Amino acid sequence: MTGKLDGKVAIVTGAGSGMGRAIAHRYAAEGANVIVADLNADAARSVADEIGESAIPVPVDVRNQSQVQAMVDAAVSAFGGLDILVNNAGVGKIIPFLDTTEADWNFMFDVNCKGLLWCSQAAARVMIDQGRGGKIVNLASQAGRRGEALVLAYCASKACVISMNQSIALALAPHRINVNAIAPGSVDTPFWDEVARQFAHLLNMEIGEPKRTFTKSIPLGRIEQPEDVAGAAVFLASADSDYITQQCLNVDGGNWPG
Ligand SMILES: NC(=O)c1ccc[n+]([C@@H]2O[C@H](COP(=O)([O-])OP(=O)(O)OC[C@H]3O[C@@H](n4cnc5c(N)ncnc54)[C@H](O)[C@@H]3O)[C@@H](O)[C@H]2O)c1
Repeated sequence: MTGKLDGKVAIVTGAGSGMGRAIAHRYAAEGANVIVADLNADAARSVADEIGESAIPVPVDVRNQSQVQAMVDAAVSAFGGLDILVNNAGVGKIIPFLDTTEADWNFMFDVNCKGLLWCSQAAARVMIDQGRGGKIVNLASQAGRRGEALVLAYCASKACVISMNQSIALALAPHRINVNAIAPGSVDTPFWDEVARQFAHLLNMEIGEPKRTFTKSIPLGRIEQPEDVAGAAVFLASADSDYITQQCLNVDGGNWPG
């Protein structure tokens, strides 16, 4: 059976957990060789072990340019090139507007935006030199589509991801490198568990209440799973999306109207 990503080489950042893990699994199932990159070296190793010989774990902090370069070098030396980068590593924190500190702001922008820039630059240089095009998939969020009183810095960082997605797409279009984003809703991962706990604390709710309330507002009527995002990530990394660039695709159960 042939896969949609047969023979391709992919890097997935933040692949030790949640959506990154699900995307790494799907890419390998579609025939790609995958670099499972994560700040948490143990998590990266365990996901690479789950996948098998087509995956290699690489510890990386996406904020650190030399570590990011080493991650890209690892893909080229292990698998002979690079075709796909998924900028999935991300962090978030629920903090009221008036309590947001410089440290909070820097933490979210450093990982979600600066890290995305370093990874995209390092990957694009290899893809341009190879001359065979490429795909970059960025994890944005519904949070980047609107503001929220308790989520200022995270919302702003994901709006920045949507903007960077457009600029990088325009810069790389002449090289046949497609750059697109995915905007999930609230996805059932350790990230959303922690965010829901912080919401419950700030809003004086019982711990499970934010998830229950949010799930009721989703037109498709269930909480989003990491695998719901993996299908879109395969599409945006495959030849099926060769004429699509600069887009941000909502994968959110119909939550966002536009
Ligand atoms: N879960 C949600 O509800 C949701 C919704 C919309 C968008 N997102 C975005 O999707 C992406 C994945 O989220 P998730 O829910 O799977 O999160 P997760 O917390 O389950 O996984 C994120 C992974 O990123 C890694 N990571 C964090 N900082 C890093 C760094 N500096 N360098 C390298 N790796 C780092 C973590 O170790 C972790 O393994 C993030 O960008 C997040 O902002 C999440």
